[in-house]
Amino acid sequence: MCGIVGYIGKRDTAPLLLEGLQRLEYRGYDSAGLAVHSSGSSGGLKSAKTKGRVRDLEERLPKRFSGTVGIAHTRWATHGAPNDVNAHPHLDPDEQVAVVHNGIVDNAAELRAKLTADGVTLVSDTDTEVFSHLIARSEADTLEAKVQEALRHIEGTYGIAVLHAAFPDRIVVARNGSPVVLGIGEKEMFVASDVAALVSHTRQVVTLDDGEMATIKAGDYRTYTTEGSRTSTSPETVEWAAESYDMGGHDTYMHKEIAEQADAVDRVLAGRIDDRFATVHLGGLNLDAREARTMRRVKILGCGSAYHAGMIGAQMIEELARVPADAEPASEFRYRNPVVDPDTLYIAVSQSGETYDTLAAVQELKRKGARVLGVVNVVGSAIARETDGGVYVHAGPEVCVVSTKCFTNTAVAFALLALHLGRIRDLSVADGKRILAGLRQLPEQIDRVMREEAAIEKLAADYATAKSMMFVGRVRGYPVAREASLKLKEVSYIHAEAYPASELKHGPLALIEPAVPTVAVLPDDELLDKNRATLEEIKARSGRILAVAHMEQEKADHTIVVPKNEPELDPVLMGIPLQLLAYHTALALGRDIDKPRNLAKSVTVE
Ligand code: F6R
Repeated sequence: MCGIVGYIGKRDTAPLLLEGLQRLEYRGYDSAGLAVHSSGSSGGLKSAKTKGRVRDLEERLPKRFSGTVGIAHTRWATHGAPNDVNAHPHLDPDEQVAVVHNGIVDNAAELRAKLTADGVTLVSDTDTEVFSHLIARSEADTLEAKVQEALRHIEGTYGIAVLHAAFPDRIVVARNGSPVVLGIGEKEMFVASDVAALVSHTRQVVTLDDGEMATIKAGDYRTYTTEGSRTSTSPETVEWAAESYDMGGHDTYMHKEIAEQADAVDRVLAGRIDDRFATVHLGGLNLDAREARTMRRVKILGCGSAYHAGMIGAQMIEELARVPADAEPASEFRYRNPVVDPDTLYIAVSQSGETYDTLAAVQELKRKGARVLGVVNVVGSAIARETDGGVYVHAGPEVCVVSTKCFTNTAVAFALLALHLGRIRDLSVADGKRILAGLRQLPEQIDRVMREEAAIEKLAADYATAKSMMFVGRVRGYPVAREASLKLKEVSYIHAEAYPASELKHGPLALIEPAVPTVAVLPDDELLDKNRATLEEIKARSGRILAVAHMEQEKADHTIVVPKNEPELDPVLMGIPLQLLAYHTALALGRDIDKPRNLAKSVTVE
């Protein structure tokens, strides 16, 4: 959510910043801007910004925009509409200070009122603008001290990068709740809110902690707290290569990420299977056998697709480990003063590892003494670092705003965790072997689902005319239906609702008519007959039905047949054709698939 990139070195910075912004555009794309220390004779700061995409900024950039130190931003609006003035960077009236900011200043209204009373004219509607005025008005001697003084007035979250005309040899950055990463190059340094913007230049990075700041110069960097004490940090190597952020011959990241799921599942399984004991090794879990046996409940917390993957995970843990488990949106949990139970294992789920609501839930739980593990994709992210241990999802970078491969890999990561807990508790060797065999089959079965793409594309053209769609499933099928409904509405903007199939007759059946088709998820399990009865109910109301099932469904108008795995693992495969359905429906409707309206990846604000 919003992207920051900065550069200091010997190269002309504007092209580097624009390239970095392109890589971060998935985090926000309603406006963009940059500021550089001008290398012209008069020096000083120069800036350019615009409503719209990074390519609009590129087109509007003045020809002479040279300089070797600069910062840039791509925005997802929180305070103030997306327009030229509200775009970042924000400068003070004398153009001495330029600031780019991710996060939200909670006391912005109060600070804006104080600045106005002091005679400052604020030009934008943003919370960010207060940073540039506060820094410019500070009488401290160094840029670091000016920024520290300004931060003392700020309540809220920030990742900021600051330029000052009087200090052309440095960029100062600070972090509180919004990621800031330094990229260490050869006689050049980068800064970004996300390694995606850095990896084509360097894989050596330093991730700042909350309350930490850094000064970067062309040849070195130093880190310290907002109070001024030095901190010690050493660079780490980023695991993901630059190519994994490319589109790889696909027209969209969404398509690329759907198509690479077989490989992604291979990665989450790699090195973890233990045939001897019919279980899996989860290196970083940090949960000993005694704890696994004595816990009495599992509570899974996440948002959006991560929450849906957590619902699948809860179901798997209950079935395989026979411990009560449920999932709840982290965004709700954190606000309801939850009762924290010492015998419950809490698990936070997140692709980005940055989602603010999930992070806040983790922090609240830890404050109350709970044991919290993470199921996270981004290594070293805030949630990965806040939790006591966990399972990495190893999906690789997910660039498309809507989650696909990470949802699938998270579900598989939960299958591993459920098997591990099950085998410590009472799952038999025979069942352990059965699940391992099922897991091994997944990549090849995913390839088989992908071979149905042309047929799904045809169905999508047909269903794209729907005014609304209903998604139903029972027990194992229900989280699949929920995720499929979210996918469709996010990317195609067709209204969609998901219900447990059993709930249909308690109300939503009233919506069924020919213009409101139903997608029914019907695994071949003990509930198949009940699900078939639901299809009868829909047909009796002239509803059209698209079934996702293990065999042709007589009552359905169309069936997408998916390969059968073990019942506990079926949800992993049944979601994939519905990702393709959402994708091709959006394509048929001409939507901007990788950048759906109003959305951005990594929701780092409340
Ligand atoms: C949906 C989607 C979102 C995210 C949610 C949580 O396609 O991408 O619903 O799943 O914002 O994000 P993470 O997993 O990064 O915590």
